[in-house]
Amino acid sequence: MSYDCDAIHHADCITALAELPAGSVDLAFADPPFNIGYEYDVYDDDRERDTYLDWSRKWIAGVHRVLKDDGTFWLAIGDEYAAELKLASQAIGFHTRSWVVWYYTFGVNCTKKFSRSHAHLFHFVKDPRRFTFNDEAIRVPSARQLVYGDRRANPRGRLPDDTWILRPHDCSDGFRPDEDTWYFPRVAGTFKERAGFHGCQMPEQLLGRIIRSCSHPGELVLDPFAGSSTTLAVAKKLGRRWLGFDVSEDYVRRGRERLNAIGPGDALDGAPEPLVSAPTTENGKRLEDKPRRRFVRRNGESVPRLPLSDD
Ligand SMILES: C[S@@+](CC[C@H](N)C(=O)[O-])C[C@H]1O[C@@H](n2cnc3c(N)ncnc32)[C@H](O)[C@@H]1O
Repeated sequence: MSYDCDAIHHADCITALAELPAGSVDLAFADPPFNIGYEYDVYDDDRERDTYLDWSRKWIAGVHRVLKDDGTFWLAIGDEYAAELKLASQAIGFHTRSWVVWYYTFGVNCTKKFSRSHAHLFHFVKDPRRFTFNDEAIRVPSARQLVYGDRRANPRGRLPDDTWILRPHDCSDGFRPDEDTWYFPRVAGTFKERAGFHGCQMPEQLLGRIIRSCSHPGELVLDPFAGSSTTLAVAKKLGRRWLGFDVSEDYVRRGRERLNAIGPGDALDGAPEPLVSAPTTENGKRLEDKPRRRFVRRNGESVPRLPLSDD
């Protein structure tokens, strides 16, 4: 079977990768199931550890085979298997360029442990001396430059501290695009960007940084685990060719709808500079600053608000 480019296919990626020509892909981005019992519609995300690791080695080897010699592979993975999949990828022949930590807000709240707020993004290349890295394509002015007009602003910024912080917006000189700790909010249920059919939808701006820096317009971007088709949507908007697989017929159908509704040159969804897109804590709204509403909704009707005891 052959797989057309600029398309998403309903297929198991291990089978599909084996059928693609070797050395045909410029950039692969994979956000596989993390084996944490997440509820997908078709895929069972609760496998025996060894079964999951064997399966992972197979698809990673498939990606390695289809990449060009100067190709790049990005892998998104959770804490549970990050170490294992990094070693497995290196054993298969990849070289690690960066171990990026994606720090996000709007994660799932936990009650008996610290809430999950990061994932790992491994940047691998096939050849450590020959690969695409367009650093100019991903530079943006810092908040010091944008907001404070600070002459002391280091054009390359500084490494963020490994300190616990409550809101990244209060850390104006951290999380710069050229550093390896990235901040983008997760695509939460209320976000306009949300396609609405896949719980693991990645932010377009995150994929934008990866695709701009590691591929050129016209090159082929592959996503073996397309999900809601974020990678493919961003590749299409940025004028790359694109190819994706998913085992869910439903995700593929809805992904096609998402992809048909956009075109090359369209703006990426989400704020390009998430640090300055929301107010700092100091400039945020306080409840006491908000006027009390005189009417409230009750049973679908607007009724006068009853006075509270502290009114
Ligand atoms: C974490 S999600 C990807 C989410 C995606 N990055 C996005 O932004 O929406 C993983 C996807 O892999 C798919 N999947 C699982 N096993 C697969 C396989 N063998 N081949 C292709 N897709 C698979 C699942 O159906 C699921 O949609």
